[in-house]
Amino acid sequence: MLSLLESKIQSLIQGTSLKKWAKQAQSLTSTYRQKKDQTEPLSSDSLRIAYLCSRLPATYAAISYVFKELQKHFDLSLVRSLLDCGAGPASVLLAAESFFSLQQATLIERDPGFIKLGKLLSHPTDVEVTWMLQDITKGIPSSAKDLVVASYSLCEVGKENQLQIIETLWNKTEQIFILLEPGTSKGFHFIRKTRERLLGLGAFLVAPCPHRENCPIAKGDWCHFSVRLPRSSVHRQLKEGSLNYEDEKFSYLIFSRTPVSTSFSRVIRYPFKGSGFVKLKLCTESGLVEKTISRKDKELYSIAKKTEWGDELK
Ligand SMILES: C[S@@+](CC[C@H](N)C(=O)[O-])C[C@H]1O[C@@H](n2cnc3c(N)ncnc32)[C@H](O)[C@@H]1O
Repeated sequence: MLSLLESKIQSLIQGTSLKKWAKQAQSLTSTYRQKKDQTEPLSSDSLRIAYLCSRLPATYAAISYVFKELQKHFDLSLVRSLLDCGAGPASVLLAAESFFSLQQATLIERDPGFIKLGKLLSHPTDVEVTWMLQDITKGIPSSAKDLVVASYSLCEVGKENQLQIIETLWNKTEQIFILLEPGTSKGFHFIRKTRERLLGLGAFLVAPCPHRENCPIAKGDWCHFSVRLPRSSVHRQLKEGSLNYEDEKFSYLIFSRTPVSTSFSRVIRYPFKGSGFVKLKLCTESGLVEKTISRKDKELYSIAKKTEWGDELK
């Protein structure tokens, strides 16, 4: 599906100079790297197109990864409506099309330029899509939906508004709430605060945490995950990189209104796979655990050999 997205993006930039978009992509990267508490809306269509080419494939891949995690614990056919806050160019809706049979989607975005691009990119025929031009710090004028998502957007609204918006979004959640943030120390700090707040409100954790205990990640460290995505040639030229893939790092939370089984540990770093053994760093109900599984433990070893960063271990 990523290739379908790439071809939609390429049709939007056909006949234009890649050099121009490469410059814009660099300027976008420096905007996102600034350690500002709040991010201003993108100031031009060129920057928005650069977002489509250089960031959308990555956020789409991260969102798809999180939907796959949800699928392990929740019947996706129960999800019929979506609310996406800070929708940008419809990234969540585009990814959702491969997982859910949605009937209705409400996408809230403050930037009319992104709404225009989102409409060009996503036109699912059997989903009734409502776009709302709205600053979410001023209110979220939507009814409750089965699935509520905020993907890479609440990091842009300013600390003083974040937790209030989280509570509002949770109140509008019929079934599942998902928060995705960049896999940085700042992104995780907000993820951890959200986890505490929603657990306090009685929400049930689906992933990634296998427990409701205090988060055991040490101060200064951060829990994040990674998804590898192929880079198209346009994507490569824009990023001025030679690799034909990139790794997108992100932190996330999935909460449910109803309890789900979480009897597993979570692999929270790249496993070290040696000769005849695998070393795993796990988050468990009793805290962080370093586990070495040797080939002597036949059954577990054959599972551990195939285990990747982010996986569950039963
Ligand atoms: C980094 S983009 C993420 C877009 C998309 N959700 C994704 O995952 O690709 C952040 C988006 O949040 C929107 N946003 C930031 N602050 C907002 C606010 N206060 N109200 C509504 N949208 C906002 C921005 O305009 C932008 O489209």
